[in-house]
Amino acid sequence: MAQRTLILVKPDGVKRNIIGDVISRIERKGLKVIALELRTIEVDTAHAHYAEHAEKPFFGELVDFITSGPLVALVAEGDRAIEAFRALAGATDPVKATPGTIRGDYALQVAQNIVHGSDSPESAEREIKIFFPELV
Ligand code: TYD
Ligand code: MG
Repeated sequence: MAQRTLILVKPDGVKRNIIGDVISRIERKGLKVIALELRTIEVDTAHAHYAEHAEKPFFGELVDFITSGPLVALVAEGDRAIEAFRALAGATDPVKATPGTIRGDYALQVAQNIVHGSDSPESAEREIKIFFPELV
């Protein structure tokens, strides 16, 4: 059963010119990109997307960062797409992320870890609605 996941190449990934590499890894894995957009998001959108972290000490920094410049939002579809992309992305803390994963290969700081991927079917549905309301 095909599943959908919301993926972001965050502003640090766009600045470092690795949009292509992230998309290549997604496609190489066998996931299908079914929607894609480059845009700078508003603070309201960032709050909606990261609502679960609203009370965390890093929330302010997270919102500043995710709104700091253009990001790439995309929806990928395939078998167990959510888990498949989280495996490609690697651990949240890029120092702990296995080399060979996106975060393991490109990042050193948790606050700037290149990509986002939905963590459950419920999050995926909620997040896809925020970025691509026309898809739902
Ligand atoms: P989280 O949902 O825990 O991680 P993931 O992106 O792997 O699902 O956290 C969301 C983002 O918040 C994370 O990608 C980077 C940032 N963050 C921090 O800046 N500091 C932290 O201590 C944590 C846990 C996350
Ligand atoms: Mg998360």
